[in-house]
Amino acid sequence: MLRPPYQRYETFYIYAFKSGHPELRDLEDPDLIGYWEEDGIGVLFFHKPKEELIAQLVNKLNLILEIRDIIPYSQWNERRTPKPFEVGPFKIAPLWEEGVYDLIFDPSVVFGEGTHPTTSIVLDVSWDFYKERGLPQGVWDLGCGSGILTLFWAKLGAKVFSVDINPLCIKVTKRNLELNNLKATIWEGDLRKFPSFDGELILANLYKGLLLDLFKNPRFFNPKYHIISGFTIGMEEEIIHALRDKPVKIERRVERDNWVGYLLCQI
Ligand SMILES: C[S@@+](CC[C@H](N)C(=O)[O-])C[C@H]1O[C@@H](n2cnc3c(N)ncnc32)[C@H](O)[C@@H]1O
Repeated sequence: MLRPPYQRYETFYIYAFKSGHPELRDLEDPDLIGYWEEDGIGVLFFHKPKEELIAQLVNKLNLILEIRDIIPYSQWNERRTPKPFEVGPFKIAPLWEEGVYDLIFDPSVVFGEGTHPTTSIVLDVSWDFYKERGLPQGVWDLGCGSGILTLFWAKLGAKVFSVDINPLCIKVTKRNLELNNLKATIWEGDLRKFPSFDGELILANLYKGLLLDLFKNPRFFNPKYHIISGFTIGMEEEIIHALRDKPVKIERRVERDNWVGYLLCQI
């Protein structure tokens, strides 16, 4: 995340360890952007090279450094540098943009700068959903990333519950809510171990394997509506097959740059 004196991202200095370590979560350093942990791997991102600090951490915590990399911000995220965009009535921008915006956010290094086709499908379908049906009783943002979907629904006035397995996503989502003076309930954890889903609307912009796992959990279908995305046209057959005996119908299908999203409605 951006903290003074840093006003924007220029270059990422990246150190990836074979496995994560709980102490890395609370690491304090003025040049630290964040600590990412997913699938057992731990990754530190800095604004500057940190060889000395990394050598100390490797010694102290018995870490194995697997990758070190330097990536200009312009090449991060498939070169989708965050820029202002609009959804419904809201003008949304990264926090370094000058001007007046309804929502600002720090994209950090996590997924969710807003203009990826799958995110934009979920945002557009969300806005249409709100126009047609009003505010749902509780919205789940499953795999919240930067919290961009959480911000959108919280701004509309919804009670939002956000979940992510990556501790950095949790920190970034909290910070982005603070930046906009908004509130949501946030949990760090694995969606596959989640006991229950209440509320009326689930947003799930995930990857195919995780969607298929969630479909096996009958409680995933408790809420009346789902906006799902994160799969390509080539993966649709498998998604549709997995949904065939579930208590939902595909009410709307949106396709963008080979990515697909559905609005599912309970039957
Ligand atoms: C494609 S990103 C979506 C981010 C944001 N919601 C958006 O639409 O732009 C998927 C998110 O799911 C999270 N994720 C992946 N596996 C997960 C799991 N098993 N449990 C919880 N979150 C998970 C990732 O950390 C990532 O932030």
